[in-house]
Amino acid sequence: MKPCIALTKGRLENQFIEFFQSLSYDVEPLINKGRKLRVETDEFQFVFAKGVDVTTYVEHGIADLGIVGEDILAEFQPDVYNLLPLPFGNCRMALATEKGKDWPARKRRIASKYPNITKEFFRKKGESVDIVKLEGSVELAPILGLADGIVDIVETGNTLKENGLVVKEEFFEFSARCIANRSSLKIKRDLLAPVIKSFQKGEVVR
Ligand code: PRP
Ligand code: MG
Repeated sequence: MKPCIALTKGRLENQFIEFFQSLSYDVEPLINKGRKLRVETDEFQFVFAKGVDVTTYVEHGIADLGIVGEDILAEFQPDVYNLLPLPFGNCRMALATEKGKDWPARKRRIASKYPNITKEFFRKKGESVDIVKLEGSVELAPILGLADGIVDIVETGNTLKENGLVVKEEFFEFSARCIANRSSLKIKRDLLAPVIKSFQKGEVVR
């Protein structure tokens, strides 16, 4: 039996493949997967999904391990074992606003894909805000007048910059994480231990 690893599609997927290759695993089927969402390599089965769905597959034990950003764990608090940090996917969670625009004195409206993280951030500050939940392209909200600011991930900072926004406060630095199904860790320990160990020894990507 091969361990099943759920991978977050997109940027993390590419960085994971680079990392996995640096550990001398076979990545050829991952690179040449086309539009397939399930791929087998010599040693593993992989499934590709959105971050929050990666946690769902791991929570239900369909996948033994998952590769996901810590932002997803903080926002959705899934019932998984948060095993270890990985040396890629380094990002910050930040509050950003339009460059050169005054922060209004009235109750503020904040757009985000992360309503729980946003709520907790402002709760700690003792500030009550209205949160507008968006699914993506959050940077549009202040530009179009839907919100006064956003809470979102910053990686290179290019998206903020190219849309005329600036960081007002960074408050949470994180990376990709390897998560595990709680019972897989016990039942399949012999199968999973070598891969977990190799992840621990892995070197920083980029
Ligand atoms: C993410 C995030 C930021 C951007 C940060 O968006 O929400 O917008 O990447 O990266 P940067 O600092 O390197 O520019 P993503 O591209 O995943 O799209 P989405 O927000 O529409 O889901
Ligand atoms: Mg975005």
